[in-house]
Amino acid sequence: MSYSSFELLDHSKPILVFGRDGQIGQALQACLKDLKTPTVFLGRNECDLANEDAIRQVLNRYQPQVIINAAAYTAVDKAENERELAFAINAKAPQVMAHYIANVSHGILVHYSTDYVFADTQTTAYLETDEVGPIDQLCIYGQSKLAGEQAIEEAFNLAHDSGHEIYHNKFSRYFILRTSWVYGDGGNFIRTMLRLAGERDQLKVVADQVGAPTSAGWLAEVGIQIAGSRMESGIYHAIPDGEISWHGLAVFAIETAATAGEGIELKSENILPIPATDYPLPAKRPYNSRLNNSKLKKALSEMALTEQYPHWMGQVEEYVKNIVKQSLSS
Ligand SMILES: NC(=O)c1ccc[n+]([C@@H]2O[C@H](COP(=O)([O-])OP(=O)(O)OC[C@H]3O[C@@H](n4cnc5c(N)ncnc54)[C@H](OP(=O)(O)O)[C@@H]3O)[C@@H](O)[C@H]2O)c1
Repeated sequence: MSYSSFELLDHSKPILVFGRDGQIGQALQACLKDLKTPTVFLGRNECDLANEDAIRQVLNRYQPQVIINAAAYTAVDKAENERELAFAINAKAPQVMAHYIANVSHGILVHYSTDYVFADTQTTAYLETDEVGPIDQLCIYGQSKLAGEQAIEEAFNLAHDSGHEIYHNKFSRYFILRTSWVYGDGGNFIRTMLRLAGERDQLKVVADQVGAPTSAGWLAEVGIQIAGSRMESGIYHAIPDGEISWHGLAVFAIETAATAGEGIELKSENILPIPATDYPLPAKRPYNSRLNNSKLKKALSEMALTEQYPHWMGQVEEYVKNIVKQSLSS
């Protein structure tokens, strides 16, 4: 993939990536390694996102024109007892980034968000224009991520409404990529299922929550492509095509691993579907995690940024096969 479309960038200014060590952060490192524009990756040690001053310091130090924020407080259940910290990292930190970059000529913020901003108000796939919340039905993580989205939009509106002529045609832009069920390098549902399949002779998996598993590698590529494009500011639902339940995903991943040569005894009929109510967790999760991806698909196609839009199945198959390959060779 080529990212040569960064023609609007001042190449003396770096691309700043927060969340270096997360699933998407690691994928961004792989994608950006050959880019000519200097790139700075920050992990928790270089910048604690719970500390506003630390964020301002790195922004002033690096003066980026592009920020990709792949960091977040993602411990969904723990967040129920760490509201303040979740809001500091998921709402305040993106707000500080947005205030900075919105006032940079041609500044760009790419920020990842989640389907957890929706609380089962419908059974069909959500559009970007569908109402979020209701807030009191969202878990704390969902509330904090929603607050982050709103803070970004407000910061950009404020910068643009200030009406500085200097920004005419040089508008800064933001891209909020809402995604779901992310898997990459790091702990995730698919890896957990593959591990448990090797340890147990029966698994019970939730079958009444539906969404789209999304590859961290693909999310990184899309984020970079968008940052280098002329796409319009806004929220985009960034998931591949198709949908599946957690149970269906577990069966698919385990069967794929078995076919690829992983020694798994567990038979598919012993992966039992259960309702979410049989697997209670501290944080409320949506039953309907379906996001409509038409807006992103259209925009990528108009920008000639995608030849073939992916389906979750092909991407999960490739991911599982790679895990099996690595495990067989080690
Ligand atoms: N995972 C999913 O299923 C999912 C679904 C929908 C949306 N998303 C969104 O996608 C984005 C990336 O998710 P991911 O799966 O890549 O997450 P991840 O693997 O949990 O990575 C999050 C990163 O944020 C960093 N971070 C957390 N607190 C920090 C702090 N105080 N200061 C600095 N860095 C901090 C973590 O640092 P450490 O490595 O040091 O802990 C970690 O590297 C997030 O915006 C998330 O909300 C994820």
